[in-house]
Amino acid sequence: MLAGRRIVLGITGGVAAYKAAYLARRLVEHGAQVRVVMTRSATRFVGAQTLAAITGSHPVVELFDDDDVSPHTTLARWADSIVVAPATAATLSRLATGLSDDAVSATVLASTSPVVLAPAMHTEMWEQPATQRNIATLIADGYTIVGPDVGALAGGDEGVGRLADPDEIAESVAGVLPGGELSGQRVLVTAGGTREPIDPVRFIGNRSSGKMGNAIAVASARRGAAVTLVTTAPAPRHPRVEVIAVETAREMADAVWKAAEDADIALMAAAVADFAPEHPEATKLRRAAGPPQVVLGPTPDILGGLAAMEKRPFLVGFAAETGSIEAAIDKAREKGVDLLVANDVTALGSEFGSDTNEVVIVLPDGSTEPWELMTKSEVAERLLDRIEVLRSGGDTGGAPS
Ligand SMILES: Cc1cc2nc3c(=O)[nH]c(=O)nc-3n(C[C@H](O)[C@H](O)[C@H](O)COP(=O)(O)O)c2cc1C
Repeated sequence: MLAGRRIVLGITGGVAAYKAAYLARRLVEHGAQVRVVMTRSATRFVGAQTLAAITGSHPVVELFDDDDVSPHTTLARWADSIVVAPATAATLSRLATGLSDDAVSATVLASTSPVVLAPAMHTEMWEQPATQRNIATLIADGYTIVGPDVGALAGGDEGVGRLADPDEIAESVAGVLPGGELSGQRVLVTAGGTREPIDPVRFIGNRSSGKMGNAIAVASARRGAAVTLVTTAPAPRHPRVEVIAVETAREMADAVWKAAEDADIALMAAAVADFAPEHPEATKLRRAAGPPQVVLGPTPDILGGLAAMEKRPFLVGFAAETGSIEAAIDKAREKGVDLLVANDVTALGSEFGSDTNEVVIVLPDGSTEPWELMTKSEVAERLLDRIEVLRSGGDTGGAPS
């Protein structure tokens, strides 16, 4: 996504400016062309020569330059995207009010390309109402904000205000660039295991980590899709991933069925409870009351509901099996999905929570394609490739089972 793209990296005057050198390096490694613009304060924290050596061109620091009569508009027109990392409180304030009195803010203001801002500052500065007002304004104006994270800050402090990880910033830059083979497509993904309350503190759950669904959401976003991720698990941050947090099968069903109305592809990777307590207790169950009688009832059939939609997305189901995947082949036929991803969660490397997965692709006619053990990110990429072939009416795949 970044290969061949022209990225302007704006650096402003915070301690985290030294990390901008690493970010520049990562962007270059991804194949991007990078030019740097720095505030004067930034040059107190990281040497312009360092950035010149990494990117192959000298950073712009002064607006009134001898070589270029208008460096900010030159950079702004050149850029496919601009990223300001770190973005100081002062620079956020300038951008929120349209003040363009230095090389970084003038470049951002002169540009019509997407802009990513990665704030970094002490917690007190970040939490000031003024800074929060500026951030709200910048979001409303269409800027993409990444971070800040919670963690160690300069001077031994700890808290919110730490620059987001440079790799995550690079990912965000890739995320705001237009293009990609799923550009203009809406992808709906579910992840994690549902939790069905027994009482306010206890639930019936499962061991799903959400990693497979997260990998699919990120892979789809990287290909340019607008992704809705309905999840019970911690979600990845990506500018093109909208996260809807849910807990129960009922909540997941409502969110999925609504989002499916304008989705092009739906990948249902969550582990959804088949049964849930019919009457969860309003207060905590007590040991003294003896073992409770928990009556279970069926949960909504999310996949079935999607399959029954009049105008439905391309539908991908997941089946976690234990031992044989025969039941998954029946499920693919019964549910009317376009593709089913089955895995044996008792197999080595495919357990819940693992970073790898060995899956079998089941097509509607019951034919199967066993894929070798690979990382969940690799499964996600290959799955999207496979879906593209199927959606374009290409080869329906595997040998009959
Ligand atoms: C040692 C030191 C560290 C600083 N670190 C930060 C910081 O992390 N974030 C921030 O917003 N401002 C920080 N500041 C304050 C900025 O440098 C100051 O607001 C400056 O005017 C920012 O200018 P600029 O946005 O034009 O680069 C720091 C100042 C000093 C002296």
